[in-house]
Amino acid sequence: MTIRIGVIGTGVMGAGHASMLASQIAGCEVVAVADADEARAKVVAGKVGAARVFSDGKALIGDTGVDAVVVASPDPTHHPLVMECLRQVKPVLCEKPLGTNSTECREIVETEMRSGRRLVQVGFMRRFDPGYEAVKAALTEERHGLPLFLHCIHRNAVAASYTTSEAIILNTAVHEIDAARFLLGEEFVSATVRGTRATRSAPSRTPQFLLLETASGVLVDIEAFVDAQYGYDVRAELVCEKGAMSLAQTHAVRTWSSGTVGNSLYADWMGRFDDAYRRELQAWVQSIRSWKAVGASAWDGYVSTRTAELCLEAYRSRQTVTIDIEERPAFYA
Ligand code: NAI
Repeated sequence: MTIRIGVIGTGVMGAGHASMLASQIAGCEVVAVADADEARAKVVAGKVGAARVFSDGKALIGDTGVDAVVVASPDPTHHPLVMECLRQVKPVLCEKPLGTNSTECREIVETEMRSGRRLVQVGFMRRFDPGYEAVKAALTEERHGLPLFLHCIHRNAVAASYTTSEAIILNTAVHEIDAARFLLGEEFVSATVRGTRATRSAPSRTPQFLLLETASGVLVDIEAFVDAQYGYDVRAELVCEKGAMSLAQTHAVRTWSSGTVGNSLYADWMGRFDDAYRRELQAWVQSIRSWKAVGASAWDGYVSTRTAELCLEAYRSRQTVTIDIEERPAFYA
């Protein structure tokens, strides 16, 4: 059975997903695309061979020729579009974050549980990155003993001018929060957050530093710096009782010149996580065919947003904030 997919949002992420689904992912075809900017949607439709173009995402979801949906439109559209997918009982891969706040995410969780079927996957693609997977496997087998520290770095070269200090927590650090939860397999219990001084290239926002503690006492620090200028740079180092593991940096090219040797950096996430996106999409399509959910669930989407929200509270108050996540429902076991 070929899964007929509709993609909503044809900007950076949506165009990338549509192209990958059409050319590199087995068992599916892209039959429809939607974008508020219909002209943009038409260009992407032409490239991926999608016959139908919509300017309204809900109309795409209602199309009887669409079996499953990718939501890659801006964050505020995620909740209404995912809710519509649940109403129409269509599997949906929604880009992160699942909602703009935890109330929206919780409503999605409750609605999905009532539907009795796992239909929502959240686009936390790090879970499909071979490096993160290898660290997770070593941890699960306790190859280096119990974890003590997880150091996470998330640097972008540049960010949109409207990006705020708050958005750096809710939209950027949320990736690291989910990745840490995925690796360590437990929830956070407290957060302290500080911004350093603003940089001269982005005076309206401050790079963020988050210090979180997990239920078992692992300390996780996250640097989220979206104006680093020099390139896209994501790192993670896990320190355990008798060993440490750090993600190997993947580079296209190594250069020897002018007395130095160096590795080129990716400009952004599309190159760095190309493999993770491909594996995420393939696993999602396979999960629809097998009816066996994979990746980050709606519950993971809720918990990561709830955690990020409490980090925001810690940032604003300059106090250490308690994180009190409810028990994971058996539905998401
Ligand atoms: P973008 O701005 O490049 O593209 C968004 C597209 O959605 C635009 O073409 C816009 O016209 C369209 N759009 C706006 N309102 C719409 C609506 N109501 N219905 C349909 N289309 C609408 O944004 P980008 O970077 O592609 O981000 C999209 C989503 O992906 C965001 O939620 C973002 O947080 C997430 N994202 C995820 C990443 C990941 O690594 N998983 C990386 C970057 C973004």
